[in-house]
Amino acid sequence: MKRLMMMTALLMAVTVKAQGPMILGDNHAMLRVKQGTKYLLLPVQEKEENANIAVLDIRNEMVQRLNVRLAVDKVDYFVPFEIRNGQLLDITFHADKRTTGAMKDFVCWKEMKYSDTFDTTNRERFRPRYHHTPLYGWMNDPNGMFYKDGVWHLYYQYNPYGSQWENMSWGHSTSRDLIHWDAQPLAIESDWLGAIFSGSAIVDKDHTTGFGRNAVVAMYTSAGAAQTQSIAYSTDGGQTFTKYAGNPVITFNAPDFRDPKVFWHEPTSKWMVVLAVGQEVQFYSSKNLKEWKYESSFGREYGNHDGVWECPDMLCFGEKWVLLLNINPGGPFGGSATQYFVGRFDGHTFTCEDNPSETKWMDYGKDHYATVTFHNAPEGRIVALPWMSNWQYANQVPTQQFRSANGLPRDLGIKTIGGETILTCIPSKEVMALRGKKVKQPTEACEIVIDMKSSTDIVLSNAKGEQVTMHYDAQKQEFKMDRTKSGDVSFSEAFPCETAAPTFGSIKQLRLFIDRCSIEAFDAEGKMVMTNLVFPSEPYNTIKVKGGKTTIYQLDK
Ligand code: FRU
Repeated sequence: MKRLMMMTALLMAVTVKAQGPMILGDNHAMLRVKQGTKYLLLPVQEKEENANIAVLDIRNEMVQRLNVRLAVDKVDYFVPFEIRNGQLLDITFHADKRTTGAMKDFVCWKEMKYSDTFDTTNRERFRPRYHHTPLYGWMNDPNGMFYKDGVWHLYYQYNPYGSQWENMSWGHSTSRDLIHWDAQPLAIESDWLGAIFSGSAIVDKDHTTGFGRNAVVAMYTSAGAAQTQSIAYSTDGGQTFTKYAGNPVITFNAPDFRDPKVFWHEPTSKWMVVLAVGQEVQFYSSKNLKEWKYESSFGREYGNHDGVWECPDMLCFGEKWVLLLNINPGGPFGGSATQYFVGRFDGHTFTCEDNPSETKWMDYGKDHYATVTFHNAPEGRIVALPWMSNWQYANQVPTQQFRSANGLPRDLGIKTIGGETILTCIPSKEVMALRGKKVKQPTEACEIVIDMKSSTDIVLSNAKGEQVTMHYDAQKQEFKMDRTKSGDVSFSEAFPCETAAPTFGSIKQLRLFIDRCSIEAFDAEGKMVMTNLVFPSEPYNTIKVKGGKTTIYQLDK
């Protein structure tokens, strides 16, 4: 009996039901937050509208604002609200239903609970085995990626309060090998300048900023009533950031002005930033990352303009530079994709050598977006990481505990074929370490290597009759992947599709990476890449290949 009482007391300490709200109108309530536990677990119902929550401290000052789809009649999952100095939640509901006056009956009040812990054990069968995902919540673009002291840092656009896009802040993960990622505490939270949109980070080896030698300095878009650029610095290697008191550091009168990518221009010894501004990019220069000078704009007459330009990056390959430029919509198969431009850069102006009417795509799949590279990668490597989704359906894909993964890390290079310079992408060498034993049939996490002499047909399928067909046409120099019958394609009309890529010469070896909900196809020489999501009801366990020799490796983390 004594033991039972002790256990009950222990449980009570861990999870305690919340007190009811003060109902103040048809769509307005307040909730007094009990102090003493770490979290208030908020129940979410994904199809509901957002409730706006203002978090007030003991002086009734607003210290945080968040939007949560609080559950009305069914709880899909919980999200942890960290109590800290919040004393009172001022909650406004939306949508017609809120005017019925039944707010006191919403299931969220009954289900909310206090807890010192939040369970992040995986609940998802589509969670990738060897790709990066957040433990819970929504993720989009990779942000602020850098390498320092043997550690790869990946920040990302993150919603800690739900698995759909909202409440943008920077989540954080670290890795020693680009494969095994450790989740870290939230790195940068929104403030009154706005939500924290995409950006980059650098290691200030030469102490140019005054924030300390080897300080990590992040630059991101503050997305408020206007989009402006802000900086924040870290003196503990990227764990915690302090926002600079002089923010914003760059402003401009345009509705879309975002995603700063900072890079060092060696010949002129200065920092540069490239920013996406509607239908062009703008370059600015600085000695200290605080004061910036506008240098030039590029792009209005070049490439694809069927969507908004976002998330640029500048890659230096000696004499030649590649400008990466993500665009949404406007991708070759609808929605989001990454185009690039080859040219020269003198510290002021980017001069493109491509034909202005031509569009070069970095990846010919449908799920490769917001791709940017790590600052300060070792051995002079240029390592990129994509977000593996597409804005056409990213919020609807059939997972719930988390939404979205990153694609495999890729090492980038350039190759000139028939007078034209193209960007090459190969899986980073760290991926090789995943190779386990050879297996006869595909598994949910495997690499399939196909040595091809000429045209090849590939069918990947399961016992449910779900299949992905691929075809390499050696004559046409084209590789195609069809996912129309790949499994669950019902969540968006834009999902079922066939993607096709030019192969720039022949593919001698094709490497296919399968990881529960994704297929990435690489020409081993890097001339062609295709990244696609799939949601089969059971793993594909059969492969038929006509025209090539197949080896399958189990991939184990
Ligand atoms: C690209 C993007 C960026 C923006 C961020 C917001 O996917 O739209 O332009 O900074 O996502 O989350």
